Parts: sequence; structure tokens; C-alpha cells
Amino acid sequence: MQPTFVTNRLTLRPLQSTDAAAIQKFAGEKEVASTTLSIPHPYPDGSAEAFIVATHERHKNNLGTSLALISNETGELVGCMGLHIANDHNRAELAYWIGKPYWGQGYATEAANRMLQYGFEELGLNRIYAAAMTKNPASSTVMKKIGMKYEGELKQHIMKWGEYEDLVYYGTTKTEYEATLR
Ligand SMILES: CC(C)(COP(=O)(O)OP(=O)(O)OC[C@H]1O[C@@H](n2cnc3c(N)ncnc32)[C@H](O)[C@@H]1OP(=O)(O)O)[C@@H](O)C(=O)NCCC(=O)NCCS
Repeated sequence: MQPTFVTNRLTLRPLQSTDAAAIQKFAGEKEVASTTLSIPHPYPDGSAEAFIVATHERHKNNLGTSLALISNETGELVGCMGLHIANDHNRAELAYWIGKPYWGQGYATEAANRMLQYGFEELGLNRIYAAAMTKNPASSTVMKKIGMKYEGELKQHIMKWGEYEDLVYYGTTKTEYEATLR
């Protein structure tokens, strides 16, 4: 069973087949897809359904947890966030997107703080990191706000839509996380 968490304004819960339309609508926006590593554009029919099934498979295989972010006020899906686990190294990569109408309201930061707590306190991970394109400073800001530290840049590390993109990495360890709790 994937977990459910309730934060101030959000419920982070397992994805359901009924989330597919909202995922296709929001992840299908060019501005959301363009700074992610793997969201296609245009977003093909059936991809949201396949993504939802894949998140449950990944969890079953102990490879991670991806959750829907639901507004406590409206019940609407505002985004998705996941931890992708590398068991051999006891670490995970945090990945996320927020629907464009909901940008700039602190939702990514609120959910990421809870996912960090889950990763370190409940899964016992040793390290959590995230990567963003250098042209996506909002994502770097989220990482900084949740206490991750700048770890460096990889030049032209990926190709997105025919262009090489630089990636910036942020991360934190369990020791660093625990120090923030004292
Ligand atoms: C990146 C993304 C997840 C941020 O979500 P969000 O809910 O708007 O994030 P938050 O509101 O929690 O925080 C965003 C922060 O970035 C800041 N920010 C926005 N534009 C910025 C810019 N150009 N430079 C620096 N900081 C910026 C905001 O001011 C905010 O910080 P503040 O609360 O201190 O003011 C969202 O824009 C998104 O989904 N983008 C498309 C998909 C994506 O890029 N996913 C991440 C892949 S690594």
C-alpha cells in the first residue's frame, strides 16, 4: 500500500485511474513538459493511465513512491511528486510537477518537505537529491527551500526536444536532514 499524507493545504495520496484526465491536462501543458526530463509533448492519450499503473508497479517492486497532490480545499489534483529509489545506494531522486494554474503558491515546497520526511524518517533513506535544468530556477528554489544543497552542474547532460540542456543537482543526506530537526 502506498502511503497517504496530509499537510497544511494538500493531501498526498496514491494515484487513481480517475486522476488520468487531470494529469493529461496539466502535464500536457507545454510549459510543464518543457522543463521535465521525461514528460512527452504533446501528451499522448493513454499515457496518464500508463503512468498511474507504472507508479503502483514501481512501489510494489520497492523502487519508489509517486503520489498525487490534492488540494484539501477543492479536492482537485494540483500536481504529482515521487521518490525514485536506488536500493543499492539507499538513496532516492525527488521528481515533481505542479499544474500551471497552481504555480507560485508554495505547493511544490509543501509537498517536497513531506516527501523528504517520508524518505528519511519512514523509508530510512540515506540521501535524497533532485535535478533541474538550469533554465528552471523555480525548481532550484524549491530544492533550496526544502534544505537541499547545491551539488554542481552537468553541462549539456540531456537532450530535450533537440537541444542539449545543462542540469543542476541539489541534494541532502539523512545526517544533514536530522541536523535541521534539532
Ligand atoms: C518547478 C515547479 C514544480 C515549482 O512549483 P511551485 O508549486 O510553483 O513551487 P513553489 O511555489 O513551492 O516554489 C517556487 C519558488 O520558486 C520561485 N521562483 C519562481 N520563478 C523563479 C525564478 N525565475 N527564479 C528564482 N526563483 C523563482 C518562487 O518565487 C518560489 O519561491 P518563494 O516561495 O520563495 O517565492 C513548477 O513550476 C513546475 O511544475 N514546473 C514544470 C515542471 C518542472 O519543472 N518540474 C520540476 C522538474 S526538475
